[in-house]
Amino acid sequence: MPTPQLTDPATSRWSVLPDALGDVLADLDPTDLLLAVPVPDDGLRQDERAGAALALVGLAAADVEAAHEPSSEAGATTRIPLVPGERAARAVFLVGVGKGTAADLRTAGAALGRAGRGRADLVVAVGALAQEPESAGALAEGIALGGYTSPRWLSEGTTPSKPPASAVTLVGAVDERAVLRAVARARATMLARNLAVVPSNTKNPAWMAAQARAIGRRTGLEVKVWSDRDLRAEGFGGLLAVGAGSVTPPRLVQLSYAPQAATAATPHVVLVGKGITFDTGGLDIKPAEGMLAMKTDMSGSAVVLAVLAACRELDVPVRVTGLLALAENAVGGAAYRPSDVVTMYGGRTVEIGNTDAEGRMVMADALAYADAHLDPDVLLDIATLTGAARVALGRTMAPVYATDGGLGEALVAAGRATGELLWPFPLVEDYRPSLDSPVADVNHIAGTPVGAGSITAALFLREFVGERRWAHLDIAGVGRSDVDRGLLTKGGTGFGARLLLTWLEEMA
Ligand code: BES
Ligand code: MN
Ligand code: ZN
Repeated sequence: MPTPQLTDPATSRWSVLPDALGDVLADLDPTDLLLAVPVPDDGLRQDERAGAALALVGLAAADVEAAHEPSSEAGATTRIPLVPGERAARAVFLVGVGKGTAADLRTAGAALGRAGRGRADLVVAVGALAQEPESAGALAEGIALGGYTSPRWLSEGTTPSKPPASAVTLVGAVDERAVLRAVARARATMLARNLAVVPSNTKNPAWMAAQARAIGRRTGLEVKVWSDRDLRAEGFGGLLAVGAGSVTPPRLVQLSYAPQAATAATPHVVLVGKGITFDTGGLDIKPAEGMLAMKTDMSGSAVVLAVLAACRELDVPVRVTGLLALAENAVGGAAYRPSDVVTMYGGRTVEIGNTDAEGRMVMADALAYADAHLDPDVLLDIATLTGAARVALGRTMAPVYATDGGLGEALVAAGRATGELLWPFPLVEDYRPSLDSPVADVNHIAGTPVGAGSITAALFLREFVGERRWAHLDIAGVGRSDVDRGLLTKGGTGFGARLLLTWLEEMA
């Protein structure tokens, strides 16, 4: 079984040209070219450059509007075939860009990226539509992610999925730097998605650690891996308890990035990702429908790995350390049990309420380690932690918890800028007593039900972050998509990679 290119996702060759669409087209093979012309909501005829682009292939904007009534709704597409022969393209692909907001351009880009799959060239007559760096970035992000397809594991001789267009050319007043940075962020999303869809008979904790080592080597990171022996020696009781039922034991991975110009005063951000390579629920086993999707329960760790991998290329101005808390939550004779008391990293004891609440156990160990040894200025974790997060906010927004308002706001803003939307959730003090245990320092789930599962999980994690500035993203609802639509593909979404990179880039 050939392994697809997972850890270095393919994208197109990107170029940005200020003008001269005619010259660009003259150099390309018309039969394998997708020529895209945006349709703004005030119509094609108002847009001089769209008119010029259409004229190049012998069309008049007014005729096109009258005959085809192309929709300007963001992402709507209208294909106009052309008579083969003299023309520089075999078809014009009109794409609605709505009001031209970043969100509209991202959606329009995704439609183009999809349509460009399998082609040699995608040429977009952007004109004056994406003059702001943010707009240019959004368009490029959309094109890159629209061109993405999930890896598949097929036998020799079967047809693989179409790759993204070999080359993408944006013609117009477009900020090239913003485009290239957006593509780098989109590639981080793709890497996270790729890892998330790897089947769990391949993807165990040691496999994830091996990917982290390889990616770290390629992207200039320091990598440290704790074997199960190391974890035992240092008392990582949460990771060990969760991993005890599996034949593939847990790992902790640390990846470190420092900017070129780092000094002692350079802020340090630590990112912790949940890396459950498969979540059966453990002895509190999940029903079939609930278990099926659980190969993506390592999405948080995939996002952290992908973010670290992109830091150098994006020249992130702060020090960043990533921790991947990796374990398989399996069923077996050695599995941890409900009512066990587990001694966590650092010595706190936890009374197990439900073995399916394994995420908070591995996260708590990694958070306690970060607090004790890494001296972070900001500690952030990202985890597919609770079904309750999905019940609360559904599939497009994720709860964010933060110990200080400014941190939460900065994350929400980065989310808005990237279309990965967060909503601030409260750490409700009234619910904290439900975590008091009669036999251990702390309960692992609410002993007396309070009916706010994502919040009580966050309160549990808070027990392990000391006095740090801390934020927690519960991505259980958004980490996975059941549809191929817009920027999303079926499977892992990589939610958080672009948002965290954007947040880090702006953190001077
Ligand atoms: N991995 C799940 C959370 C999850 C659910 C992620 C659905 C994605 C989609 C987590 O480990 C879990 O099982 N959480 C339990 C906690 C409960 C036992 C307190 C849950 O949310 O039901
Ligand atoms: Mn679980
Ligand atoms: Zn889980």
